Amino acid sequence: MSNITEPLTFNRGLEIKNRLAIPPMTTRMSYYDGTVTGDEIAYYGMRTGAVGLFITGVANIQKNGMGWTGELGVYDDKFIPGLSRLASAIKRDGTKAVLQIFHAGRMTDSKTIEGEQPVAPSAVAAEKEGAEIPRELTNEEIEEIIENFKQATIRAIKAGFDGVELHGANHYLLHQFFSPHSNRRNDKWGGSLEKRYHFIERVVDAVIETVDTMKVPDFIIGYRFSPREETDPGYNLKESLWLVDKLAQKKLDYLHISLTRYDRKTNVPEYQEKSMLAYVHDTINGRMPLISVGDIRDRADLEAALEHSEIAAIGCSSLIDPNWSAKILAHRDSEIRSTLNLQDKDILMIANGTYAFMEMKVPDRLVK
Ligand SMILES: Cc1cc2nc3c(=O)[nH]c(=O)nc-3n(C[C@H](O)[C@H](O)[C@H](O)COP(=O)(O)O)c2cc1C
Repeated sequence: MSNITEPLTFNRGLEIKNRLAIPPMTTRMSYYDGTVTGDEIAYYGMRTGAVGLFITGVANIQKNGMGWTGELGVYDDKFIPGLSRLASAIKRDGTKAVLQIFHAGRMTDSKTIEGEQPVAPSAVAAEKEGAEIPRELTNEEIEEIIENFKQATIRAIKAGFDGVELHGANHYLLHQFFSPHSNRRNDKWGGSLEKRYHFIERVVDAVIETVDTMKVPDFIIGYRFSPREETDPGYNLKESLWLVDKLAQKKLDYLHISLTRYDRKTNVPEYQEKSMLAYVHDTINGRMPLISVGDIRDRADLEAALEHSEIAAIGCSSLIDPNWSAKILAHRDSEIRSTLNLQDKDILMIANGTYAFMEMKVPDRLVK
C-alpha cells in the first residue's frame, strides 16, 4: 500500500510531497472566452496547500473544443497571464500544479461554440439527451488538433505549470477516437483497436516531443482515461487494459483513471475477481504511478484506494470541505465536513453550474 505522507518522484524528476491529489473539476467560473477570473483564483487558493498534486479543471485547446461556458481556455497566448496567476495560486506550500487539456469533440453543442457544428471522429451523435450530430473531422483538422495540443503544452509551460494532463476520459475527443461508438472511420484514424489508438498515440507523442524539445526540467505529462464505456458498441475493460499497457510504454509520468467509485467492478464476466482499479494497477505493474479517484470520503476509503494506486485524488470531498486533505494529514478526521448546504455553497465558492452537477452526481451529500 502507498503511504499517504510519503513523497513521490515522477519519471521526469518532479517530486510531490505526499500521495494526495485534487482531480480536475471544472469550476464553471472562467470568463465567456476561457480567461481565468478572480473568483476562480480564490476557489483554487482555498483548496490548495495540503495536497501534493492539484490538477485544474479542463482547459480547451481550441475554440470548437470548448465543452461548457465558464471553462478554462488555453487556445491562445492571451490566456498565459491568467493561467500564470492560476498556477502560482495553486503552487502554495509546495503543492504542484497540473493543467488538464482537452478538446470536447461531440460532447459540446453549437450554442457553446458560437453556432458552429461540433466535430468528432465520425458523424454519430453521443448517447445523451439533446446531443447534436457532429461533423466528421478531416485529416487536416485532425493534424491541426494535434498541433494545438502541442501549443497548449507550450502555454502551460510558459504559464509556470508543473505539468499537463491529457484528458482522454469521460467521452471527450481523445476518448471518442478510441471508442467504436464515436469512431466509425475506415481510414488510418479508425477501424481496428490499433487504428482507434492512433490519434491518442499521435497526441501523446507530440506532447512528449514538445516537452523534451523545450527541455523544461521536471515538467510532467499525465494521461487520464476511462476504463470502460456503457454504449453499444463500446469498449470494455479488456480493451482499456490494452490501452493502459500501450500508454505505460510511453515516456509519461502518470496514468489517471476516471471512476465514479474507486472500488467499482466491471460487468465483463472474465474480470470479476478484482476492482477495475486493481486490474489497471496490475497492468501498469510499477512502470509509472497510477492516480485513483471516485467517492473517497474518509480515511478508510483513502487507504483502500491507495492499496491499488500510488496517488489518490479527492474530488467532491474537497469541494465540500476545502481542508479535507489538511485534516487527514493532521489526523483531525472527526472535523471533516461531509455534506453541503446552500449557504456553504457560496462561502466555498461553488458556482451554480458546479452545484447543479453535484445535485446530479452526489445528491446524498447535499442538505437542502
Ligand atoms: C464539478 C465537477 C467537475 C468536474 N470536471 C472535470 C474535468 O474538468 N475533467 C475531468 O477529467 N473530470 C472532471 N470531473 C470528474 C472528477 O475529476 C472526478 O473524477 C469525479 O468527481 C469523481 O471523484 P470524486 O467522487 O472524488 O468527486 C468533475 C467532477 C465534478 C464533481
